[in-house]
Amino acid sequence: MDWIKIFETRTAAEAALADNQPRLLLVRGQRICIVNRGGKFFAVQDKCTHNGESLSKGKVNFRGEVICPLHQYQFNIKTGRECLQRSNDLECYPIKEGEEGIFISI
Ligand code: FES
Repeated sequence: MDWIKIFETRTAAEAALADNQPRLLLVRGQRICIVNRGGKFFAVQDKCTHNGESLSKGKVNFRGEVICPLHQYQFNIKTGRECLQRSNDLECYPIKEGEEGIFISI
């Protein structure tokens, strides 16, 4: 598995990622939607599987689902599953934290 560093430190990640606020990250040309949820980081594909909207423009609800801003489909940020299975699951990307930074595998 190829790990790509996305933040030098946890402090840098938390400064860049407000709690429960999706943010777009470009990793090797891929659009990733990343979320800091209570100090844990989750990453899913940014492109909504319904009609392609950017999920990083959406919000995260109390259940830990990112809500697409276009038609409000709701995707679990841990599993990528749409809550009513109205569209395909999102691709999820593992994130790990080490002494040398925070890394993603895409
Ligand atoms: S494009 Fe995301 S719910 Fe329709």
